[in-house]
Amino acid sequence: MRTILKAENLQKTYRVGSVDVHALRGVSLDVEEGDFLAIMGPSGCGKSTLLHLFGGLLTPTAGRIVIDDEDLTAATDAQRTDIRRRKIGFVFQRFNLFPTLSADGNLRLAERIHAGSNGAGNAERRREVLTLLQLEDKMHHKPLEMSGGEQQRVALARAVVTSPAIILADEPTGNLDTENSAIVLNMFQEMNYRFNQTIIMITHNPEAAAMCRRIIQMRDGQIVAPNVVVQI
Ligand SMILES: Nc1ncnc2c1ncn2[C@@H]1O[C@H](COP(=O)(O)OP(=O)(O)O)[C@@H](O)[C@H]1O
Ligand SMILES: [Mg+2]
Repeated sequence: MRTILKAENLQKTYRVGSVDVHALRGVSLDVEEGDFLAIMGPSGCGKSTLLHLFGGLLTPTAGRIVIDDEDLTAATDAQRTDIRRRKIGFVFQRFNLFPTLSADGNLRLAERIHAGSNGAGNAERRREVLTLLQLEDKMHHKPLEMSGGEQQRVALARAVVTSPAIILADEPTGNLDTENSAIVLNMFQEMNYRFNQTIIMITHNPEAAAMCRRIIQMRDGQIVAPNVVVQI
């Protein structure tokens, strides 16, 4: 087993006017390659802040993050952006697809962002991922021509198409009904099994968490239960 993400004593304090909000109060976590991890905890406990730190969208007030052997916290802004492009796939609650592009177009855009503007895309890989997500007949559809569940599957396809070291998902089923949630969660699990894809997923849904290999519980900016192993 290889550690693909290492977080050491992460702290994040937001300054709001003259008030300090301590969103993270010393979070340490090791994530192994191929893990599928759920982060749970009450609203406001720091889950999204932690995920944004892992993805290099925010910088910690103190502490250290190493992703796939690269130190995110020692990096400059430009280096951090580069690490994010090469190593991270994001899936958000709002699907954040490009509305004027087809499903395949959204994946091509992700490939270009990943590899730089003159990077070649991989049509075969795109087709493989879209087929695995049962979207092959939606390849040329635009987001508004798809259901919420289909759009979220495109967002997942976009996140995995570049084979990122880690997928970070912030309440990916938060906007979906029960049926679509189940489909999307099954796809996450499939990505984890089939490609040994490492996934960290914030969720409020105990059924979603039960599909993960491990659950960590947060409260008040700290991890209170770091290693609830789920029997699948
Ligand atoms: N950009 C921000 N500026 C100020 N406070 C913030 C900001 N983002 C989050 N917070 C605060 O930090 C705490 C943790 O927020 P968040 O990480 O979004 O929690 P969660 O995702 O668990 O609901 C909350 O008290 C929230 O109000
Ligand atoms: Mg949140």
